[in-house]
Amino acid sequence: MAYRIDILTLFPQSMSAVLGESIIGRAKKKGAVEINCVQIRDYTENRQMQVDDYPYGGGWGLVMMAQPLKSCLDDVLKKVGPRRSRVIYMSPQGRPFNQEEAKRLRRDYDHLVLVCGHYEGVDERFIEECVDEEISLGDFVLTGGEIAAMAVADCVCRMVPGVLADEECYTGESHWDGLLEYPQYTRPEVWEGRAVPEVLLTGDHEKVRRWRRKKQLERTLDKRPDMFEKLEFTSKEDRRLVEEIKYERLPEKMKLRFEPRRAEERDLEAILRIMDEAKAYLRESGVDQWQNGYPNREAVLADMAAGRGWVFDCVDDGCLAGYECISMEPEACYPGIDGAWLTGGENYAVIHRTMAAAKYRGTRLATEMFSFAEELAAGMGRASVRVDTHRDNKPMNRLCEKRGYKYCGVVDIGATNQTEGDPLRNGYEKLL
Ligand SMILES: C[S@@+](CC[C@H](N)C(=O)[O-])C[C@H]1O[C@@H](n2cnc3c(N)ncnc32)[C@H](O)[C@@H]1O
Repeated sequence: MAYRIDILTLFPQSMSAVLGESIIGRAKKKGAVEINCVQIRDYTENRQMQVDDYPYGGGWGLVMMAQPLKSCLDDVLKKVGPRRSRVIYMSPQGRPFNQEEAKRLRRDYDHLVLVCGHYEGVDERFIEECVDEEISLGDFVLTGGEIAAMAVADCVCRMVPGVLADEECYTGESHWDGLLEYPQYTRPEVWEGRAVPEVLLTGDHEKVRRWRRKKQLERTLDKRPDMFEKLEFTSKEDRRLVEEIKYERLPEKMKLRFEPRRAEERDLEAILRIMDEAKAYLRESGVDQWQNGYPNREAVLADMAAGRGWVFDCVDDGCLAGYECISMEPEACYPGIDGAWLTGGENYAVIHRTMAAAKYRGTRLATEMFSFAEELAAGMGRASVRVDTHRDNKPMNRLCEKRGYKYCGVVDIGATNQTEGDPLRNGYEKLL
């Protein structure tokens, strides 16, 4: 038995004309779907064939009477006989229509009755008595329910087997699985100086499939961020494609890549230059940190000797970009924190002397330095990483928070480091 839709309307001829065209028209002729547009006026019980009247209580416009609608509906249901029928009133007050609603109507019923109101709407008692649900085309008001009913009929019918050539014709389209469709192109290959994307001409099906999937993700992200936010990326490929899209959109500076390695004596001069730049930056930013001789050559040499000094090379230009000390030794001043660390005991690593060369500010370097320290600490069985920084050192405080470090209280480094003007530091810790 074909999927059937009866549309109750005051304008059956114009609707039949539209629904008799193109794909839906052909599907009707083939018998894949049955769509009838029924004239409500044929069911009036008054001589003037009047279908509407003035609203009780006054006000503008006319209201469609319940009787012709109910008689029309009864007749349709009687003719159709026992089926999984659903009576739907097209209404701006209904649940907004979308692809999921269409799938539900296609799946749960094999007969829809779409009631089109006109004028001011229909007598409320008809809705209460006869209607199973109300569906809206969107949050706006149309003159009548016909356009909405045609939209619902068209959308539901194209999912009925035999209407389109293949299931893929609709499962691959926008909104089927929460994504928008990829861009489509047809001949000629170049139009108004615009060429078809090369990948589509390669004949490599796998490449084309991957490109299209990426475009679907990209388009949804750009055109419908609300939909993109709801996506759950269950496939590895989708996760990788999203990473790729995000990476491609980074400013050029943020694409620079960095590699860590243990600092060696040959790096010393470059490290000291970076240190001077870092000190100048703090001074210019009004931060009373590293302004009194610390850190210095001796501190870096001691780091190197203990194997805790790390440099980061910029892979893209070969320059030494940053330095940090990753210590596995407990810090003497940390037990005296004015607050509480997340962990007790001494099974933590500490990041000290994080510094980036001026030209790598605004890159991923600092993030990568933190992330490397965390990996190293985790690999050595540490439970957490701690770091301290001056309260006015905004970039560093922000970085700690962004990387999931918890503010634990104030540390006084005065006893172990006499060179700093203001010895108070914000203490942070991150569990690994
Ligand atoms: C002018 S409207 C009546 C609006 C009604 N007075 C109201 O404010 O809720 C006339 C008819 O158009 C149809 N209609 C209007 N907007 C619609 C929408 N967004 N979705 C579905 N049908 C709509 C309904 O069938 C309605 O009975």
